[in-house]
Amino acid sequence: MTAPFDFAPLLAPGTPAPAVKWNGFPKYNFVGGHNDAKQVPVQALIDAATAVLKREGATLATYGLNSGPLGYKPLREFLSAKLKGHAGIDCAPDEIMITSGSLQGLDLVNTLLLAKGDTVLIEQETYGGALTRLAKFGVNIVGIPLDGEGMRMDALKQKLAELKRKGIKPKYIYTIPTVQNPTGAIMGEARRKEMLKIAADYGVMIFEDECYSDLVWSGRRPKSLYAMAGGEGVIFVGSFSKSIAPALRVGYIVAKWDILARILGLKQDAGSGALEQMILAEFCTTHFADHVPKLAAALHAKLQTLREALAEHFGTAAEFGDPPGGIYLWVKLPDVVDTQKLFQAAAAAGVSLNPGPEWSTDKAYARSRLRLCFANPEPETIRKGVEVLAEVCRREFGVPLRSANIEKK
Ligand SMILES: Cc1ncc(COP(=O)(O)O)c(C=O)c1O
Repeated sequence: MTAPFDFAPLLAPGTPAPAVKWNGFPKYNFVGGHNDAKQVPVQALIDAATAVLKREGATLATYGLNSGPLGYKPLREFLSAKLKGHAGIDCAPDEIMITSGSLQGLDLVNTLLLAKGDTVLIEQETYGGALTRLAKFGVNIVGIPLDGEGMRMDALKQKLAELKRKGIKPKYIYTIPTVQNPTGAIMGEARRKEMLKIAADYGVMIFEDECYSDLVWSGRRPKSLYAMAGGEGVIFVGSFSKSIAPALRVGYIVAKWDILARILGLKQDAGSGALEQMILAEFCTTHFADHVPKLAAALHAKLQTLREALAEHFGTAAEFGDPPGGIYLWVKLPDVVDTQKLFQAAAAAGVSLNPGPEWSTDKAYARSRLRLCFANPEPETIRKGVEVLAEVCRREFGVPLRSANIEKK
């Protein structure tokens, strides 16, 4: 038998820890950004795939189809029109680059801009994937506290002034202004204006991340920061992960051509998956506008199921708001609860959740907080999962004392 080859001495420095093998989804899955399986428009996607392949399938013979390295032109044309109507963004198809998920967008922008020792400003509670990426770059991550309307401008101004006194100019301000992850906050137009003014005063660019903005219950949203700034000093990333399906891995960057050209220089993957782009363009051009409100309504109903289940099983021990959109609920448990420990104990009972500290720059503040994604589990699974979570929490931390209005002895 051949002796096993030892790769360990060959690994480049800084290689991440090995991944653990995937063992299937947990029974009660409240993690990640999964979508609602029942809302994936399967038949319409089949029809779109058939139509576009019959018409243009032969173009798969060339890297980048007939569209060049920015991505499938009809998809960029759809986005150009959609972003104008929805987010108020005036951008040409050639100011949009299709990426393999918006995560690739984050990676490309970070690779272009960041070096070890740089400083970036970020919402104190934010997307865990953004935090892990920034940590990998070895940058100084400065969290700005939030309120019900997102990043607090008094705190932003104060931090920028403090950094300026130290001679530090941050590389960017990263924000998720429309349905913030994890809090669900939507930044109002006045605050957006103020943010742009502060950023301009300090000469700092804004990195705007918007993958949840289609999932607003009211269907209305403020103009994007990118739109309000006329694209100056803002780079924007978006995604089809939350509006259609995350496994497609299709996102996009919107930027002025001078910066997009530089990002393009870094995108050396010979193009993102073309079939997904073709199917999306075909589907979205006729169905996106009808699909999104249906998806949003289904998600809104699941949010209410989750809120009711938490109220029933945790009583006043769980504090949470009523987010205006998205797929997450950010929950505060009593101070005695350490959600990283709860995560372990809950996992053993089949419940997975995102512990707060992984979603915050302030680990102490987030210690008793957690994020629950309600998009994927069916309503009955949401109810049962919350009941199991409450039992685990009571066993491990003594709270909630009461469940379903029955005092536990
Ligand atoms: C704020 C934010 N940005 C980016 C992403 C990455 O999304 P994707 O790569 O699927 O487009 C996520 C995923 O949850 C997110 O929450």
